[in-house]
Amino acid sequence: MPVEALVTVAAIVRDMSLAATVGGLVLIAAVLPRGHAAVGRAALVARVGSIGWVLGSLAHSMLTYASIRGSVPEASRFLEEWWGFSQTVDLLAAYQQVTLAGLVASVLCAVARTPAVAAWSLLPVVWAVGWLAQTGHAAGAADHHLAVSAMFLHIGGAALWAGVIAAMLLVRSPLGGEAKETMRRASRLAAWAAAAVIVSGVASGWIRLAAPADLVTSDYGRIILLKAALMAGAAGLAVVHRSRFLPRLTEAQVRERFWRLMAVDVAALVFAMGAAGVLASTAPPVPIVPLGEPSPAYLLTGYELPPEPTALAWVAQWRLEILTAFTLGAAAIVYVRWVLRLLRRGDAWAWHRTASWLAGVAVLVWITQSGPSIYGMVLFSAHMLEHMVLVMVAPVLLTFGAPVTLALRALPARRDGSKGPREYLRAVVESRWMRFWAQPVVAAVSFAGFLIVFYYSPLFEFALSNHAGHLWMLVHFTVVGYLFANALVGIDPGPARPGYPLRIVLLFATMAFHAFFGVSLMMSTVLLAPRWFGLMGRDWGPDALADQQYGGQIAWGIGELPVVLLAIGIVFAWRRADAKETRRRDRQAERDDDAELRAYNAMLAQTARRDSGASS
Ligand code: HEM
Repeated sequence: MPVEALVTVAAIVRDMSLAATVGGLVLIAAVLPRGHAAVGRAALVARVGSIGWVLGSLAHSMLTYASIRGSVPEASRFLEEWWGFSQTVDLLAAYQQVTLAGLVASVLCAVARTPAVAAWSLLPVVWAVGWLAQTGHAAGAADHHLAVSAMFLHIGGAALWAGVIAAMLLVRSPLGGEAKETMRRASRLAAWAAAAVIVSGVASGWIRLAAPADLVTSDYGRIILLKAALMAGAAGLAVVHRSRFLPRLTEAQVRERFWRLMAVDVAALVFAMGAAGVLASTAPPVPIVPLGEPSPAYLLTGYELPPEPTALAWVAQWRLEILTAFTLGAAAIVYVRWVLRLLRRGDAWAWHRTASWLAGVAVLVWITQSGPSIYGMVLFSAHMLEHMVLVMVAPVLLTFGAPVTLALRALPARRDGSKGPREYLRAVVESRWMRFWAQPVVAAVSFAGFLIVFYYSPLFEFALSNHAGHLWMLVHFTVVGYLFANALVGIDPGPARPGYPLRIVLLFATMAFHAFFGVSLMMSTVLLAPRWFGLMGRDWGPDALADQQYGGQIAWGIGELPVVLLAIGIVFAWRRADAKETRRRDRQAERDDDAELRAYNAMLAQTARRDSGASS
């Protein structure tokens, strides 16, 4: 067999083993009842998967080197050379990270018997998928960030989908009567994974096909069609499972037919993974050609300079960031589904909370997919606007949506010791770590302090030059903004909130700090991230330093609007709390014939008597 074909086989073994590891761990972490007999079987699936992952990845890396080098693994010094190049060549270094992550996972899988340990053992998987997403055709693709993000979502989604379904099939015998509830949980996860695979698959295909006709005229396109057909088959079967068999899974006979159908499902996904391996080694119709004279902006950002910003351009320029787009889409869908669940069972949920949440999500879509993120890469002032809206506007709107309160009301509690979304959410919200960061004073300090730390440290350039760094910045500042807003005006559980006067003080102290930061930028004569903004080669707009000083004005100016929003929020909450307290006292007075007033009057009378006694 030619070495190139062996490379594809090794890649398929690696990807399927990684999927098995994910499947086994996810079952323990979020599906199976704690301590159930099936947990041992799931751990075995994860363990064997992780070993296959290491061996497959190792073989894939060596064979890739052999095919690049045109030498054979038996050659003397082959291992030495391969190891040497694995330290220096990006592609082999990435594969080395995937193998190392597999090694770590195989150690963790040996001890992963409880939901929490199994959940943490998934971290090496995320690391490996992150590196895998940067290899293959994504590496040289135009729109590199989209190519890599789409592959991350795609490989991760495929591993979760195929992994969970295959692992359920492998643990079916010890499951017995628990099959119904655990299968319901597993198929919910699989449904989200399938959605991720479809969205990211289409996006990946979109960047690599020159025209829809390529789907039928090119090998690459035809393999994609095959994958789509296999996936449609698997998804179709899954729908039949859920609607026809799942409700009757307690019946042994139905269970038998169900597992047989599941086997077909798994087979379709295994074939799709096989096709994916072939696809990865097939040249896409859009050739990966290095640009003749790439512009400075292209060398830095991976994109040509956008047109000079106008008011229209800020809302008319769009660039898909698929990971955030998918996450925000899910955030809107899940929130609305929870509200509908509450309303269906007759519980109330204020409409303005839903409106506020969806408005917050919409603002985040604009920040991450449109003007702010596009211009934020080439203009300091735009980055500051992106940052200010990200940390001060979107989180305030999300906070008024009270997502944690809604989740805890809508999500069912598990009774079999397993951990579901509700249990994980409570674990996060009630963790010592979160309780510390949610403390109002700590939230205020991190809200103001991180701004300085971020802009005056290498973190800023890291977030500009590295897509994972950019995504970290988006998540970090949204969470910091939410914790601060929730401490001041939120109803979500977590922090011990101070009295309203102190909240106002905290708010204005933090804003004074923001204003100070803004002014320091307006006066600045030293360029931040000079190797970025200084070398952007913009042929429009102010020079980099003037633009940075303008960024200072934005930090100061834009910072004020949300302050007013928050201050209004605090005053409203204060008035509502006061009114509520008054109503409570009135009800109390009615119940105990105003005992409090009478006690107060009695105390006054006694004081008067004492004073009059003293004076006489
Ligand atoms: C709508 C259906 C799908 C489309 C359009 C699609 C498209 C793609 C594209 C364009 C790639 C990039 C290949 C390259 O490097 O050039 C890819 C990779 C991949 N796909 Fe899919 N895919 C689909 C469904 C699936 C399914 C159902 C699975 C498995 C459950 C899957 C698993 C994978 C894997 C594992 C890779 C990475 C292969 C590698 O780099 O080794 N895909 N897919």
